[in-house]
Amino acid sequence: MMSLKSLKLGLAALAMSTSLASAADVEVLHWWTSGGEAAALNVLKQDLESQGIGWQDMPVAGGGGTQAMTVLRARVTSGNPPTAVQMLGFDITDWAKEGALADLNIIAGMEGWDDVVPAALQKFSKYDGKWVAAPVNVHSTNWVWANKAILDELGIEPPQNWDEFVAALEKVKASGKTAIAHGGQAWQDATIFDAVVMATGGPEFYQKAFIDLDEEALGSDTMKEAFDRMAVIRSYVDDNFSGRDWNLATAMVINGDAAFQMMGDWAKGEFLNAGKKPDEDFLCFRFPGTQDQVTFNADQFAMFAQGPEVGKEQAALATAILSPSFQSAFNVVKGSVPARTDVPNDAFDACGKKGMADLKKAADSGNLYGSMAHGHANPAAIKNAMYDVITAHFNGEYDSETAVAELVTAVQINK
Ligand code: GAL
Repeated sequence: MMSLKSLKLGLAALAMSTSLASAADVEVLHWWTSGGEAAALNVLKQDLESQGIGWQDMPVAGGGGTQAMTVLRARVTSGNPPTAVQMLGFDITDWAKEGALADLNIIAGMEGWDDVVPAALQKFSKYDGKWVAAPVNVHSTNWVWANKAILDELGIEPPQNWDEFVAALEKVKASGKTAIAHGGQAWQDATIFDAVVMATGGPEFYQKAFIDLDEEALGSDTMKEAFDRMAVIRSYVDDNFSGRDWNLATAMVINGDAAFQMMGDWAKGEFLNAGKKPDEDFLCFRFPGTQDQVTFNADQFAMFAQGPEVGKEQAALATAILSPSFQSAFNVVKGSVPARTDVPNDAFDACGKKGMADLKKAADSGNLYGSMAHGHANPAAIKNAMYDVITAHFNGEYDSETAVAELVTAVQINK
């Protein structure tokens, strides 16, 4: 805890440095390029612009941020890091370890972030006792998005377990529609795998395999069963899935070409952006068998250090991000839920209210787990090695037994 005296001294230093600093634009590297994501980003841009801070946009397309992180590495290597960067989980820790991130403790202390940001997020927002990133949201990956008209027409209720889910998929397939809208990109395959592993093995298994990287769990029959289920899912995907962007898969559900998409709640941003309403046009429910669990990822903005003090524009961005009114306005559009526990749910739709309630319940009951697919279970080197195995299996290169063996090896090599 910072003493009042040191807080005051810190504030004075910040005030001095901010008044001396010339008004600068904030340059923001991010991967929010889909319609729904761009609409949410606009809320942030406008907030900053209303404070007289210009926005230099540095978008790097590619869901999940893999490409964005490659571009970031190149920028830092060439000595020209952006001011602020959208980042996930262990990527923040990795950059903090390198000493590249600005210290946000003065702002965090002034604004009481310690008291309002959930502990599961603080684990990634802070490094070595210092706040190094400003959390903007909490997403989660174990969701299914469904076209309500198709489900009504075929008499399908939201499935509660794996068998009911397969029966529903079969019904859709028999009707001639695509059962599962999917984009064949490694991070999307892995997003489904998050939920499938949770549903197949339960939360303790998920913890052991993805977070503790326990070899026995990784090499188990349960993991083989999870891969078998991925093969079942693969059989309900249309022929053109390969390489498709996630938001184009969401559009298939929006347009009534497909019944379901398994995707994080950023998908809701696409439905809303298309003027669709929850419970009228689309349904949101937890992946069957994971009703009590939440596999989360949180977008945070890390500020790259430009000198001993955090920049004026960086401080303004961090403050804007953590403001309760912004957290509500932004997350309503993005599909995520607030990264503060004290934001009212009034402005949120039914899926958003469910997301907020699920998160609280999961956190209180020990059912909140970091998403492997989105960098909150293990560092990028391991995550990417897992991606390779999951994708090779999804595309039929490996059978389930080989995939299990490859998963164990991938973790052994990269641990
Ligand atoms: C996630 C990110 C979300 C969303 C998604 C698809 O990694 O946390 O905010 O943007 O990728 O791009």
